[in-house]
Amino acid sequence: MKVLHISTECYPAAKAGGMGDVVGSLPIYLPIHGVEASVIIPKYKTKWIEERNFEMVYESSLQLGKDTVEFSILKLKNTDLGFPFYVIDIPNKFDRANIYLDEDGEAFPDEIERNISFQRGVLDWIKNSPDVFDLLHCHDHMTGLMAFMVQYCTVYESLSSMPMFFTIHNGQYRGAFDWKYVKLLPKFDVRKGGLLEWDDMIHSLASAIKCSWMISTVSPSYLKELNSDFDTLTSLMRFENYKSVGILNGIDDQVWDPVIDPLLEYRLKRSVNVFKQSNKKALANQYEFKSNKILVSFIGRFAYEKSADLLVPTFEEWLKGNKSIHFFILGSGDKSIEGDMIKLQKKYPDNITAVIAYNEKLAHQIYSASDFILMPSRFEPCGLNQMYAMRYGTVPITRFTGGLKDTVPDIGDDGNGISFLQANKEDIIYSLKRAVSLYKDSLNLRMLINKIMNLDFSWVASAKEYKDHYIKTVKRQ
Ligand code: GLC
Repeated sequence: MKVLHISTECYPAAKAGGMGDVVGSLPIYLPIHGVEASVIIPKYKTKWIEERNFEMVYESSLQLGKDTVEFSILKLKNTDLGFPFYVIDIPNKFDRANIYLDEDGEAFPDEIERNISFQRGVLDWIKNSPDVFDLLHCHDHMTGLMAFMVQYCTVYESLSSMPMFFTIHNGQYRGAFDWKYVKLLPKFDVRKGGLLEWDDMIHSLASAIKCSWMISTVSPSYLKELNSDFDTLTSLMRFENYKSVGILNGIDDQVWDPVIDPLLEYRLKRSVNVFKQSNKKALANQYEFKSNKILVSFIGRFAYEKSADLLVPTFEEWLKGNKSIHFFILGSGDKSIEGDMIKLQKKYPDNITAVIAYNEKLAHQIYSASDFILMPSRFEPCGLNQMYAMRYGTVPITRFTGGLKDTVPDIGDDGNGISFLQANKEDIIYSLKRAVSLYKDSLNLRMLINKIMNLDFSWVASAKEYKDHYIKTVKRQ
């Protein structure tokens, strides 16, 4: 079976979040189960893409409202990634260094035109490359209109029986926009217009949920939450539950392997203790803090869903009374949180290091050096950081939600880390207290580290689940 993943991110070519990691790793593991997977993303001006050689495989144009948009499909010449990799070049739309946001952190104003031209260009190519793919696997709302388009736009009639699989990585982003943009879509059967709509708008995510043959979420618990929240999409999710499945993400255990990771100062040899201590000292030297404290880190976007707004007030309160923890923060996003974080670092230079950036190498170093990773997310469809952390012997402190619920049961239940219920200051502080006690209980801590480093979060099992569901999807024909 030949599957094409259609996404706006794929690590290492272009990544803004966990979806990039998933799209860059799942296709490596699908062939183990007999599925040949290719990936297509927009051609951005990222360093990785700029430095690679591509060959052109298709060229055409499409009519986007009044504009004629030229585009071409290029295929990566070498096999660096481990799967066939395509980009779609749409000049003036995607040839920018950033993926979604401009220099000031604002969403690009032409997001709707970008997403629609991407989806239409890809479909145009597929339509003209008959029999190459047996199923299209779309990721998040940016590709959410494709299931509708293949079934109801006359121009794609020849693709109307193409099995469409859709994964929700983050249901909070929806790609909903005013009906006035309908002119950007190709002509469709007007009687089916309702399949585009939700909340009185053209709603990419809702349309994908309605029109895809199968929907997956990136963890089983997240699927349950989407079926039981009090949200405008809940009733729709429930209605379509019969074709939904929650499949936990895996991690690429070749990229995330403490024994061979080239990004680490010290790799894991015989002793986990030596591995952790030497990396902690290296990080402490590099960022000039003392390595004799408990190292608790946060890595991620400064966004509401990650509860990044709670970090500064919580750390501030904690540091009033207790100086045994050093907090290391790597992230960027909300400008006021960035500013507050820097201020707090100035106030407590011996207890806080804040690096306002996105830095893949430093992330690897932090996982190898930290004692705990803090993820107080308000919601977390899967979360990959807790899995990377555990593989590097770092104990997760996580809120009991979504994929965190599935991967980090509490140590009180013989689990993998410290789990708490509420995304608030009090619960985080209580969990930090539990972390300090655990840290002091060195025998139990060592046993826990040993256990979490040996958990299997690889893609092999999840890739098999995808394959099984691809087969189910195709059989629905
Ligand atoms: C999104 C979700 C995150 C998930 C990732 C990969 O970024 O917020 O929880 O791990 O997608 O599926």
